[in-house]
Amino acid sequence: MSRRMSELSSPYQVCVAGTGSYVPERILTNEELAAKVDTSDEWIVTRTGIKERRIAAEGEFTSHMATHAARRALEQAGLAAEDVELIIVATITPDTPTPATACYVQQSLGANHAVAFDISAACSGFLYAMKISKRLISDGAFKNALIIGAEKLSAVTNWEDRTTCVLFGDGAGAAVLRRAEPHEGSILATEMGTDGNLTHLLNIPGGGTACPITSANVNDHLVTLTMMGKEVFKHAVNRMKEAAEKVIDRADLKAEDIACVIPHQANLRIIDAIADRLAVPNERVFVNLDKYGNTSAAAVAIALDEANRTGAFKRGEHIVLVVFGAGLTWAAAAIRW
Ligand code: UT7
Repeated sequence: MSRRMSELSSPYQVCVAGTGSYVPERILTNEELAAKVDTSDEWIVTRTGIKERRIAAEGEFTSHMATHAARRALEQAGLAAEDVELIIVATITPDTPTPATACYVQQSLGANHAVAFDISAACSGFLYAMKISKRLISDGAFKNALIIGAEKLSAVTNWEDRTTCVLFGDGAGAAVLRRAEPHEGSILATEMGTDGNLTHLLNIPGGGTACPITSANVNDHLVTLTMMGKEVFKHAVNRMKEAAEKVIDRADLKAEDIACVIPHQANLRIIDAIADRLAVPNERVFVNLDKYGNTSAAAVAIALDEANRTGAFKRGEHIVLVVFGAGLTWAAAAIRW
């Protein structure tokens, strides 16, 4: 059976019933960064498109941001926390190594009947969570799922490294997935991929068993994000284009059928290159990285919520989400809203 047939012939179709997002209050501008490291607003804007990013307060953790975003998504979906059956948090900046951040979110929401766990797929995590939960709902194991991308990247940023510290920010986005009624929209096609041969291009080397947290390792900036930006850039464009094309094809769509493409928010030049290769005009590509920078797993989730709430697409229209991140990992989804 082809992948297209198997996705469409699952017992239940799955829709996105609500979205939500949250970003911390504190805005960190390019000018403020230029006062700390050797950079400029002009360099950051022309090379990345980022103008400012949000920074979580000291006592504000990933689970707090995730909970705010989740409450908004639940409210829009009209789903009570106690009726949530599954919570997946995608994050590389969990509150604690264990238990999972999803467990803290379950507690703070009062979602006492949910199964809750985290996944670690960097910037691709939200769409990994979407594919996993879509399959679990369509197979009948769960009736609904709350999926969340949430990150406090400011906690793992080397604030002395101008090649990375200008890129990242904090925030959270969430979506409620549930069984779709026949007249409702549905997630039509999903795709995900990984290339573990390229782990070295983008990683946090320390903090795990390979390089434990010691004061020496912390002082050597081994527990902060490092990236070979140029290499990552090339892979990002190619992998996101391929993943988007796959879901567009499996959903039987053409470029002109897509009301909105929502890509990972890492670099405006990457987004423009993908729009160009997919032949989707820029005005149908959602961008908010100027306000938030790259928030890893949260980025596409926040963008989905903002696009949804600002009317970038309507009921019955088709959207495509596509992401890329450390791993390397990538994923895409085509949805009839
Ligand atoms: O979220 C996961 C996926 N992540 C991505 O997809 C990110 C992909 N990569 C990128 O977005 C880009 O590669 C960056 C924005 C990270 C860097 O842009 P670039 O055009 O690839 O710049 P570069 O790294 O080649 O650096 C060009 C120059 C270098 O100077 P020299 O060697 O030419 O003298 C850098 O040292 O720019 C310099 N530079 C900076 N200058 C001012 C690097 N960072 C900065 C900075 N301010 N912040």
